[in-house]
Amino acid sequence: MGRNILVTGATGFIGAVVVDYLKGRGDSVRVLTRPESNPGKALSMQVDILKGRYDDPVSLRKAVEGMDMVFHLAGVTKSVDEKGFYDGNVLPVKNLLETVLQVNPGLKRFLLVSSLAAAGPADNPDPGSREEDDSKPVSVYGESKLEAEKICLSFRDRLPVTIVRPPAVYGPGDRDVLQFIRMLQKGLVLGAGDVKKQRLSLVHVDDLVRGMVMATESPAGRGEIYYITSPKGYSWEELSAAAARELGVKHMLRISLPKSLMQMLGYVAGSISSVTGRSGFLNPDKVSEMVQDYWVCSPRKAEKQLGFTAAVSLEDGMHTTIAWYREKGWL
Ligand SMILES: NC(=O)c1ccc[n+]([C@@H]2O[C@H](COP(=O)([O-])OP(=O)(O)OC[C@H]3O[C@@H](n4cnc5c(N)ncnc54)[C@H](OP(=O)(O)O)[C@@H]3O)[C@@H](O)[C@H]2O)c1
Repeated sequence: MGRNILVTGATGFIGAVVVDYLKGRGDSVRVLTRPESNPGKALSMQVDILKGRYDDPVSLRKAVEGMDMVFHLAGVTKSVDEKGFYDGNVLPVKNLLETVLQVNPGLKRFLLVSSLAAAGPADNPDPGSREEDDSKPVSVYGESKLEAEKICLSFRDRLPVTIVRPPAVYGPGDRDVLQFIRMLQKGLVLGAGDVKKQRLSLVHVDDLVRGMVMATESPAGRGEIYYITSPKGYSWEELSAAAARELGVKHMLRISLPKSLMQMLGYVAGSISSVTGRSGFLNPDKVSEMVQDYWVCSPRKAEKQLGFTAAVSLEDGMHTTIAWYREKGWL
């Protein structure tokens, strides 16, 4: 039977896929979107659109009333300052959960979409980070996501909360992996730090969304954290080879920039951003993430407790993603 589900961040890359998936299953979806946002895409999916702010109790009350579940995806991945991360990643979680407790304490599940960045990089690539490991974020973004997790878990005796931590997410609609693909199309693979050693978990957005829904449906998922991820950490060699095959690129120039140079570039780019007020692709925070060796997490707990396994192979994922970019004229 269809459930009533509030989705935040529905105008974003992952949120749009969540809404499509839930609608496809027959759920009724309400979307909370900020007043300055353009919910054009969400509107076309026949959802109940609610414009509101995360610091406005009236908006939040209207948003959560009558809902069976909340999928909280809204968040800030790029900001020129710490406040931007705090306001976008921490406050909304706190305010939403407090509102749920006041007006809808019978909610069946509150899902927080956090990030591998909240845990920080792994010490080794096999098995990679596990949910029970200590968290050591290396960026302000990661710290803000970890803070949001702590707030969420502080409600676990009163509300059925679940947290998922995706690693890097790719698929149709994503603009971050797009930058890598665009460079590769020109025959360039640009890395930072020890690229030969580095390993990276990845999840296709379709797998992630399926895993998120499985986590909300499992009684075992109550009060738990899960990595929803590919079964292994990929090397840059594997990733670029899979994308190059799809792009028809035969020769690649691989350039890896040393840590110190990246840190300097990040500092310069960050200073420019703080003057212009626009967050760019590079800043000290992003560089601190880019130079790490092992952004790898283990899917074992999700496999064991939820029965989740990633179904989209890297080859198929690259194929559909690049085909989508081409169709939309992004490549
Ligand atoms: N993409 C990834 O690789 C990845 C990896 C790990 C975790 N995540 C997490 O997954 C979630 C969704 O990511 P995404 O890639 O879909 O992001 P996205 O495309 O940037 O979308 C995020 C959405 O959050 C809302 N938002 C933006 N700034 C906000 C602010 N200051 N306050 C409150 N809401 C704000 C916006 O929705 P409205 O404008 O409609 O309000 C926006 O569409 C985020 O929480 C992110 O941290 C993403």
